Amino acid sequence: MPQTPQVVIFGASGDLTRRKLVPALARIAARQAGGDFSVVGVSRRPKTDEDFRRELRAFLPEEQRADFDRLAPRLHYLAGDVSDAEALAALSDRLDALPGGRGAGRLFYLSLKPELFAVAAVSLAEAGLLVMAEGEREAWRRVVIEKPFGTDLPSARRLSRDLHTVLREEQIYRIDHYLGKETVQNLLGFRFHNAIFEPLWNRHHVELVQVTVAEEIGVEPGRGAYYDATGALRDMLQNHMLQVLALVGMEPPPSLDPEAIRNQKVELLRALRFPDPSTPHEFGVRARYAAGVAGGKPVPGYREEEGVAPGSGTETYVALRAEIANWRWNGVPFLLRHGKRLPRRFTEVQVHFRTPPLQLFDRPAGVSEADLRRLQRDGSLCEIRPNVLTLAVQPREAIRLSFGVKRPGPSMSMAPAALEFDYREHFGEAPPDAYERLLLDAILGDQTLFLRADEIEASWRFADEVLAAWRGPEAPPLLEYPAGSWGPAESEALFRGCEGRWSEGR
Ligand code: BG6
Repeated sequence: MPQTPQVVIFGASGDLTRRKLVPALARIAARQAGGDFSVVGVSRRPKTDEDFRRELRAFLPEEQRADFDRLAPRLHYLAGDVSDAEALAALSDRLDALPGGRGAGRLFYLSLKPELFAVAAVSLAEAGLLVMAEGEREAWRRVVIEKPFGTDLPSARRLSRDLHTVLREEQIYRIDHYLGKETVQNLLGFRFHNAIFEPLWNRHHVELVQVTVAEEIGVEPGRGAYYDATGALRDMLQNHMLQVLALVGMEPPPSLDPEAIRNQKVELLRALRFPDPSTPHEFGVRARYAAGVAGGKPVPGYREEEGVAPGSGTETYVALRAEIANWRWNGVPFLLRHGKRLPRRFTEVQVHFRTPPLQLFDRPAGVSEADLRRLQRDGSLCEIRPNVLTLAVQPREAIRLSFGVKRPGPSMSMAPAALEFDYREHFGEAPPDAYERLLLDAILGDQTLFLRADEIEASWRFADEVLAAWRGPEAPPLLEYPAGSWGPAESEALFRGCEGRWSEGR
């Protein structure tokens, strides 16, 4: 790690700073060699360094306070607005006076409204804060931003273009916090370290892939207006889910070089297709929650949430049947589902392997061979599909491979069984928070887990295609589901014939 980096957080009075950024920085400072950075929080409200530290400490749970106390002396505060030249001049002086001075690497975290990303970057550039000190190799300048990166392809392109007027791509760290999750990174590790699955990881052996991100929460207080303008497809599917999908489907990278990995992800995203935009109702379901029960308590419907327009047409649930048009995956359905106010929170990838070539066991009694074949052909009797690989991302962090074994006894009957790995049981500890890993990587200058502009554009191309189809004459209707249910029954119809049904996460 370079000597004494400096981290500047714009939006320092915000929720993300106290909930995620400061705890993550405190843990990095406590655990990582060289985590000796200084932090300057910037936001409009006037307060002293002491006030800032006191407020943050009071917010933290007891178990995080020891780490925080070690970081606290290096935590500073400056009142000001990111577009105010005077404030930025004061920031520049403040940073010069901190350990490392002008020669320190500087990370600017823009925890701001998305419409301020480009404004902030330009202001930083005008204040001379994005130029490296002459002859100082360690004096890097990096900027971190969070989604949403645009609201469609044209706006995402505009944002990239504006950022690129003052920043090089290698200075831009676009966070997708799902990539900071240990179990999401493990998708790469699991696929490309274990050779046994590689020969099976394609259309010859995989029948379908399911990705679910189910949430129990509804639209949280204070987010109604944002969410209502965004919807489930843009809020979760376009970014987090497509990133997970990219890691599941991408080709093996030739090395662990960040560009090698990101090149493969972008190729996969470019091959992603919505099967037939002229009949979108056959390949997608959208819905919003109505009043129901969550966590044992009655909860309001989406349109009664604060900040949501009473006549809103925004979806809180989306399920799609997508395809990947390349040699590895052509013809394999990728079923993607996300919803709020579902019965429980779980994120999971399931890879369903094909059935054995001939079903020898557990045939229905009294059915002739010819009838059996006919019933299977017309889909009224499905063969047992014993092999499913489940990659559980959260809250359970596990991998499970199911298969059939002979049931003890005189008959040749098979029973379902599974091999299971549980992250916490195996390693004896919970994985670190996503922000800890991402902030450390940004300080170290590793862009592997950050999004490149072309990945974002490829994801928007797909999302825009779906959204355009949803605006057309064949758009699927906006259905309703009671809060606390698994969403509209119609989404089961995205599975054809004997493909199965949505996982419920256990
Ligand atoms: C955010 C979305 O990006 O991710 C939220 O804006 C969502 O709507 C959240 O609740 C989910 O994150 P996690 O890590 O809790 O799965």
